Amino acid sequence: MSAPVLTIDGPSGSGKGTIARLLAKRLGWHLLDSGALYRITALAAQRRGIDLQDAAAIAKLAAHLDVRFVGEDETCVLLDGEDVSLLIRSEQAGEAASVIAAHRSVREALLEFQRDFAAAPGLVADGRDMGTVVFPDAPVKIYLDASAEVRGARRYKQLNEKGLDANLAQIIDDIRRRDERDMQRAVAPLKAADDAHVIDSSFLTVEQVLAECLALAGV
Ligand code: C5P
Repeated sequence: MSAPVLTIDGPSGSGKGTIARLLAKRLGWHLLDSGALYRITALAAQRRGIDLQDAAAIAKLAAHLDVRFVGEDETCVLLDGEDVSLLIRSEQAGEAASVIAAHRSVREALLEFQRDFAAAPGLVADGRDMGTVVFPDAPVKIYLDASAEVRGARRYKQLNEKGLDANLAQIIDDIRRRDERDMQRAVAPLKAADDAHVIDSSFLTVEQVLAECLALAGV
């Protein structure tokens, strides 16, 4: 491995995206948002009219994706040069990502691309299988969890703040369904690596989680 890697895995809504971004900033390290890669791959497939179940066609597409993460904190995503950062954040894009992420060949096609993000001075890698599959030798692995109810309530609040209509029960249902698919799939299922530190963020603030992660990173 060319540079130190800190992995953060966990279900959607656990706060790992926020924590990964803050950690990368604090450490001065690069950031890999692997979920964005799956979301972009799904978007690119849909734009080309490829069926989301057509694993071979999507894997081929994934192997040649023109994706770049730009901006100061590397959170602006370009697909074929177009800024799709907002477009890939919809519930529908997350759902499509979860469908194509279940294809083994698609995951394999994205593997080396993800590993190439490990560059000096270090990498914070956010996803579902960062500690188990993509960076199994990472010296620090974190698994961030929270109950489906708490994650649903966070999502509900976010949508309300954006002035969007939302139904809490429906959101919690959707979260449970996505967890189920991510945890039950045959390839790279969502689970904590044996050597991961598990943090339940249900009743912690962002600052508390960040402090715990920094302590684990030795900062
Ligand atoms: O983290 P995010 O919600 O952006 O991920 C979207 C979907 O992509 C997840 O529900 C999951 O199915 C898939 N994913 C994955 N492996 C990763 C990151 C995301 O399977 N490392």
